[in-house]
Amino acid sequence: MNDVTKVELDPRLETPILVMPCPADLNDFAEPDRQREMREFYAKPGIIVIDQVIGEPVLTGLREGLSDYRRKFKEKFNFGRPDTESFRSAYDQAIKRMTDLTIALFGYDLKDGGTMSYRPLITADEPLHYDTYDVPCGQMSLMSVLNFDHRPRKWNVGPSFREICRDSAPDLEEILKKKKPGESPSVPIRTAGLKGFGPLKDGTPLHRIEFAPGAVWYANPKAISHQITYGGGAHFQQWNIDVSDCGCQSCIFEAFEVNVPNLRTPAPASAA
Ligand SMILES: [Fe+2]
Repeated sequence: MNDVTKVELDPRLETPILVMPCPADLNDFAEPDRQREMREFYAKPGIIVIDQVIGEPVLTGLREGLSDYRRKFKEKFNFGRPDTESFRSAYDQAIKRMTDLTIALFGYDLKDGGTMSYRPLITADEPLHYDTYDVPCGQMSLMSVLNFDHRPRKWNVGPSFREICRDSAPDLEEILKKKKPGESPSVPIRTAGLKGFGPLKDGTPLHRIEFAPGAVWYANPKAISHQITYGGGAHFQQWNIDVSDCGCQSCIFEAFEVNVPNLRTPAPASAA
């Protein structure tokens, strides 16, 4: 059952991907120079994959909630967690293990398991996108994902936000010329891609990844464009980390002098 993650890199893309097995003792990761390297690698942005983090007994427990329901892109879902002792025990162990791994790998002083999302359903054929959730300037989204499904989770990874700002500034200015206050730039960029325009249109170079069951990976979904082509059960933990060298979308636009209206203007307070 030694499932390993498979990666196919497109040399035209800069995002590096590191795949390594999980050590028997997580303390083997917890060395300051190594942690600094991992923090820098993640912030590049890069993708870090650790195989065989979660073993079969815990995966079996987490799979109790699995459903064949297929989620539409962006659809809100409400699949509860099974109310059994075996599920609860597996869930608690998975959270503890993912949190311990994150602390050992990066050396961050995490107070808790972060924002969690248990997703026991099928996601497939997403458009290439950057996530739209809000992360304040000065912070960075640290996202970890566990594939607890029976099958590999398949991702395509496209250009990073930095790459599109460097290489496609005129297209981005055209796409975002009507951006409203508070609107995430990720939305019009994704929509344009679906219409065949701009840096995320069909035909853009893609890395291909098949995350093995039991693997946990780290990728910043606001900094790296990505699409799930197939995925079953996955569990997410996400932390906002204070950073001195901010790489948020607004800071990247400014660094590359991409002209975007209402870049930092918040949405007007609702009239309701
Ligand atoms: Fe996403």
